[in-house]
Amino acid sequence: MAVDLRTTYLGLELANPLLAAASPLTGEVASLQALEGAGVGAVVLRSLFEEQIEHEEMAAQDLFLQGAEISPEITGFFPELEDYNAGPDAYLGLIQQAKRVLSVPVIASLNGHTKGGWTRYASLFEEAGADAIELNVYFLATDPGVSSADVEQRYIDLVASVTSQVKVPVSVKIGPFFSSLPNFVLRVIDAGAKGMVLFNRFVQPDVFLDELTVGPRLVLSEPEEARLALRWIAILRGYTEASLAANSGVHDAAAAVKLLLAGADVVQVASCLIQRGPYHAETILRGMRAWMEDGEYESVAQLRGSLSQRNVPDPEAFERANYMKALVTYTSEHG
Ligand SMILES: Cc1cc2nc3c(=O)[nH]c(=O)nc-3n(C[C@H](O)[C@H](O)[C@H](O)COP(=O)(O)O)c2cc1C
Repeated sequence: MAVDLRTTYLGLELANPLLAAASPLTGEVASLQALEGAGVGAVVLRSLFEEQIEHEEMAAQDLFLQGAEISPEITGFFPELEDYNAGPDAYLGLIQQAKRVLSVPVIASLNGHTKGGWTRYASLFEEAGADAIELNVYFLATDPGVSSADVEQRYIDLVASVTSQVKVPVSVKIGPFFSSLPNFVLRVIDAGAKGMVLFNRFVQPDVFLDELTVGPRLVLSEPEEARLALRWIAILRGYTEASLAANSGVHDAAAAVKLLLAGADVVQVASCLIQRGPYHAETILRGMRAWMEDGEYESVAQLRGSLSQRNVPDPEAFERANYMKALVTYTSEHG
């Protein structure tokens, strides 16, 4: 009997739990179609960034001012304004196009960190046909005067502002650096999020020794990284029925299955698709089916969360106490 890979994410019925995460591959219609051809259950479009929206608005404002100073009836003014708005407009066009050509759900991604007018794009995403919105909040607190409580409140306000503007479900994509992650995640869900994407990966700066300069250096993920989401999804599954998407470091079927066992509803992948091409999704899905058949699992619903913290005989395996044991064993075995 064929295994049933169907899952529900953010209230959307998906054919399977493998999603293409936001990346350049989900910013072009041709690669989106290739991803659908490879069998992904849904796609998350590349993000529209707050900076893009604000930049366009500032540029537009400058034009308005210039126009006012010179003459209110400047010819050719409006086409120029349209050019300036190409970023956000092109993004809304991408949502519309993706909806036209794909049959899998299309999740649009809004990326930013300040409370402000840019969040109204959430409702424009909805109007353009997005099935859901992924809000990627990235805020690096570098000012010692800003407390962790301030930072968390900033996230909560932002989530509340976006979720109050739309009817479609909103998921929130965050990084792993919170002092009390379960507490924070439950507050994000209380603020209206229907799901969490755990975790975003940040581009770290690097020093380039040859030029003695500093800059960002994007490195694709490594498979080991998936264990960060494994721990937190296993723990969070016991506290919420909201959707949980695992992200970062999933490169093969084994990692995807582990995260579903821990309690993820879906798994998002980017690096492995960038490295190996969109059709790697098909390989992952084939591997997942084979593993489930071997283990005589009939459905994703049956395996989802069966190894979450609440469901394992040794819940501490997901906690730090075991880390010490692992370290001691490691040194005595290898020392
Ligand atoms: C080249 C590149 C571009 C990305 N662009 C976005 C983006 O626009 N929005 C976003 O939320 N995440 C973006 N991401 C992050 C991915 O969606 C994903 O969260 C991250 O790469 C971890 O998953 P992975 O280990 O499967 O790569 C990007 C990642 C890469 C490598």
